Amino acid sequence: MSEKNRKKLHSADYFSEARDFWWNLDFLKLMGQRWQVGNINTVLDVGCGQGHWGQVLSQILPAHTTVVGIDQEPQWVEEAGRRTQYLELEERFSYAQGNADAIPFPDCQFDLVTCQTVLIHMASPFAVLEEMIRVLKPGGLLAVAEPNNLAGVLMFSNLSTGASIEQICQDVEFHAICERGKFNLGEGNSSLGDLIPGYFSQLGLQNIQTYISDKASPLFPPYASREQQVSKQLYLDWVERGRWSRGESLRYFLAGGGTEQAFATYWMQMLQKNKAVEQSLLKEEFYTSGGAVMYLVSGRKPNAS
Ligand SMILES: C[S@@+](CC[C@H](N)C(=O)[O-])C[C@H]1O[C@@H](n2cnc3c(N)ncnc32)[C@H](O)[C@@H]1O
Repeated sequence: MSEKNRKKLHSADYFSEARDFWWNLDFLKLMGQRWQVGNINTVLDVGCGQGHWGQVLSQILPAHTTVVGIDQEPQWVEEAGRRTQYLELEERFSYAQGNADAIPFPDCQFDLVTCQTVLIHMASPFAVLEEMIRVLKPGGLLAVAEPNNLAGVLMFSNLSTGASIEQICQDVEFHAICERGKFNLGEGNSSLGDLIPGYFSQLGLQNIQTYISDKASPLFPPYASREQQVSKQLYLDWVERGRWSRGESLRYFLAGGGTEQAFATYWMQMLQKNKAVEQSLLKEEFYTSGGAVMYLVSGRKPNAS
């Protein structure tokens, strides 16, 4: 698929092998114990993308569990299917095109309904959660992994730890304005994770549990592990951009109340910082703990009375 075509697809910039390293398996196994997953036979992965989340999560589920993934992008559905063949998982997994706003399954089908970094892109995450609950069996488990992305702006590296208070605040301000603009445009709240337990409560779910992934993504010389090599390459690939491309960032920044003039200043500062990170990585000097705030929130659909 050409780079031009990839850009048109939702989240095309965010798929890479790095997603396979987002969770510690022993943490997920602990979650499996907390959730008592022994009786789970059927799973729906909403907004499955290339299938990373459902495939990682399946490792803590009984071996017979089947996982269905839906995504609005037919190309991601195809790619997810290819990944399961490569991982020799195709007997347990199937993928189909489908919209999270109108999930193409009847009521009360699945033992577990889940998603990862999907609700942060939704104009109406509450309505999507209602859909997810609709297709969940009574007593079934809803489990969603959604971040607070703004928190990540405050993670330091060897280069930023000495930054002035003004620079730190500017960084937060820039990203907060962009996130606000994205929200104002109806493209989702990038830090929605903070709100999920409250939504679950309003939706009448029971036994609501809220955790934060214990996974960091550290980078330190000599970047020896496969995970660190993948992560280092991501930093290098993103030298010319921020969390979003220049055009997308500008669109969000303006919609968040910023001006073109202020954007030009912020953007230049960010490119300079990225360039410094690139140099530091290439000299094998760059290091960071790579923290992130990724919530894992679960709740049970009440049994019919
Ligand atoms: C950031 S990706 C997450 C993919 C996957 N859950 C993972 O963690 O690897 C967001 C995914 O949501 C999908 N998506 C966005 N809006 C959607 C909608 N309304 N219905 C179904 N899928 C949607 C996108 O196509 C994309 O694959």
